[in-house]
Amino acid sequence: MIEFTSVAKTYPGGSVAVRNFTLTVPSHRTVALVGSSGSGKTTLLRMVNRMVEPSSGRVLIDGEDVRARDAVALRRSIGYVLQAGGLLPHRTVLDNVATVLRLNGTRRAQARIRATELMQRVGLDPALSERYPAELSGGQQQRVGVARALAPDPNILLMDEPFGAVDPIVRRELQDELLRLQADLGKTIVFVTHDVDEAFRLGDEVVVLHDHGVIAQQGSPAEILAAPANGFVADFIGADRAERTLHEKIVEGRSIVLDGHGRPVGVMAP
Ligand SMILES: Nc1ncnc2c1ncn2[C@@H]1O[C@H](COP(=O)(O)OP(=O)(O)O)[C@@H](O)[C@H]1O
Ligand SMILES: [Mg+2]
Repeated sequence: MIEFTSVAKTYPGGSVAVRNFTLTVPSHRTVALVGSSGSGKTTLLRMVNRMVEPSSGRVLIDGEDVRARDAVALRRSIGYVLQAGGLLPHRTVLDNVATVLRLNGTRRAQARIRATELMQRVGLDPALSERYPAELSGGQQQRVGVARALAPDPNILLMDEPFGAVDPIVRRELQDELLRLQADLGKTIVFVTHDVDEAFRLGDEVVVLHDHGVIAQQGSPAEILAAPANGFVADFIGADRAERTLHEKIVEGRSIVLDGHGRPVGVMAP
């Protein structure tokens, strides 16, 4: 469990990234923080692994203040996946995946075995092991990033717009893969995105952010869709978009679902 209690962050120079943010992320769940660029998502995420120190307030992991932990050890015990890159360009794919294991003292041979397993786990052909990151597609690079983050078998996975730089089809594949992985692994995931559809697909719980990390609404995707808390949330989630305003029509005795343009999108299961 991760608890943010009244955290705030003002960067040197006076930029207020987060004003006053309180949230509990339950263990083994995926919480998606969704907000526009500059709403404080990255700042919040980095408070968890102490890459950012809050100006006030506290972050607790399983009841313990992260400030009581050694920052480097803490960082290595938490998986962190970034948008594009984050991979070491002059190391092979396998070495990239094995890096944290090596830093944590795993012997080389053992680290390579584990890294190969992790590649398979995230759907990467181990034949890619000796390539360099630049020799992979964007989608493959992101899979390497996920494998690397999973290497130390962390309880917590922080994901900062990890699929933001790939095309929509690959993005969808990576989302499906993450759902599949999460069904197996049950990590505590904080997933940051500016894409509301991605947040709804991946989050057990979704937190819609205003500027300065102000929570506009939090709840399950169904709760937010059913009852946007205010005009900001309704706009942000596109509540009046055609694909969100479905209705039913009976055709030949079956209930057909139509979108807001009146186009059929499916059939209600009996
Ligand atoms: N290192 C920094 N120094 C000064 N201002 C920063 C720094 N990092 C972020 N900010 C500012 O804090 C605000 C929130 O940034 P960030 O947490 O990166 O938001 P997001 O990830 O939602 O785009 C922005 O206004 C940004 O310009
Ligand atoms: Mg960001």
